[in-house]
Order: sequence, then structure tokens, then C-alpha cells
Amino acid sequence: MKKIRIGALISGSGSNLQAIINACEAGHINGEMVFVGSDNPAAYGLVRAQNHGIPVFVVDYGAIIRSHKLEPGKTRLPADFCLEGIRARQTLFAQEVDPVKTEFFLKTRVAAEDALLQNMTGHAFDLVVLAGFMRNLTPYFIDHVNPDPLRPRIMNIHPALLPAFPGVDGYGDTFRYGCKVGGCTVHFIDYGEDSGPIIGQRSFPICPEDTLENVKKKGLELEWQLYPECIQLFAEGRLACVPTEITHPDGRKSTRLIVKIKA
Ligand code: GRF
Repeated sequence: MKKIRIGALISGSGSNLQAIINACEAGHINGEMVFVGSDNPAAYGLVRAQNHGIPVFVVDYGAIIRSHKLEPGKTRLPADFCLEGIRARQTLFAQEVDPVKTEFFLKTRVAAEDALLQNMTGHAFDLVVLAGFMRNLTPYFIDHVNPDPLRPRIMNIHPALLPAFPGVDGYGDTFRYGCKVGGCTVHFIDYGEDSGPIIGQRSFPICPEDTLENVKKKGLELEWQLYPECIQLFAEGRLACVPTEITHPDGRKSTRLIVKIKA
């Protein structure tokens, strides 16, 4: 079977990235890492990638956001950027949220995403994995990577049992809430925050003597197992996204994309 080509986006230490690279090298994932991109020039994950001879690039989101604050007219937006179309598709913010704030967010993120896409152009890929990438992606990036919405190609790992505790501090939120179980989730991304179709989850007990630090440690160790396993399911062509009608307790109906794992 042909190896899948995997690109990764990271922001920090890159321990999940390392687990994925190791799994590729050990043959547990039938794939190879073809690029690693970061929004943070100081991400240690970039060093990890370079240690394995993987091409890296940086799109400095912080610099783009700062420069847009100072001189919004100088921000380079792609020719196919349509603010209203993206605003209508995104579900990161309620539609009634301050339109000025939403516009600022979408313009700066799309400018950065256009730079990500340009850097990715030279590297053909089958799957993009977000491995501790601490930026929300807009429909601009998602639609460029996923031309077929029924065959999503962007995976994320989240440090909580979704749909509980989306956002930036999953283990912290789980711990502070007093949960007796914590966990991690691998999912495809959609237009919302940590709301896409779930591929796999792993859980661990939280005991009275646990601190936030060891909750994070227990969680990360499970992440390093779960993420490569989910990527291998993708490599084997075993993940099918099925639009499924859901009837809510109040009788309302909606359709959700649900991942079915083929035998
Ligand atoms: C992980 O807990 C991941 O779930 C979250 O950020 C952390 C990043 O870890 N999104 P690393 O950069 O992979 O070490």
C-alpha cells in the first residue's frame, strides 16, 4: 500500500509531532511526514522536525496581527478572499458577535492562512495534522485543503473528551471542573472550535491526589498513542464520514457528519 504524505502544523513543544514521526519511522503509520509548519518561530517542534530531515516553515501569526493593528491597509489578502462568505460559513463566533472584531479576526487569520497555503504548495500531501497548533483555522484554509467536505483531510488532537471543554486549556478546564475522568480526542476539523467529527477518544481516571500537572502528563501519554492510531486508520482508508440525521430531545432535526470506522 502507498504511504500517505502527512503535513503537520504546530505551535509549541511538538511532543505529538514526535510521536507521529516515530510511528511513521517504526512503520506503525503507513506514512511519511512531508512538511512541518509553525505559527511560532520559537516552537521546539521545528527542531524536532529538522532532526529528522523534514522541511519546515514558519508563518509568524503574531507579526501579521501586530502589523494589521498598525496599518490594516498593508495586510495582503488573497484575491479569492470574500469576507462575507467566510463570515457566514464560520461557526467560531455567533453571527451577532461584534462585526468589527470578527472582521479583524478573519482578515488577519486569512492573511496568515494564505501564507501557510503558499508554503504548503511545494509539498504534495494527503493529510494535515494539527499537533498542538494553537490557532483556529477559518473556512478559507479549510475549504482549500478539503475540496470535498465529505472527505475531510485536517485532523486535530484536543486535550479533553469532546464535546466537553473545547478551547485552549482542555486538561485545565477538566481538572478545575472536578471531573473524575479526563481524556483526549482526535477529530477532523470543521468550521467551529473543536466541534468536528470525532475519530477516536481515550480516557483516564482523575484521582483525589492528582494535580493539574500529572493530569496533563497522563493525558499527553494517551495522546501519543491515540493520534498515531487514528492517522493509521486514515492511511488504511478506514474512516468514512457519513452525514447523519439527528433528532434532538425537543424534536428539532439536524444533520451531523459522523465518522464510521470501517472494519
Ligand atoms: C497537547 O496537549 C495537545 O492536545 C494540545 O496542546 C498540547 C500540545 O502538545 N492541543 P505538543 O506540542 O504536541 O507537545
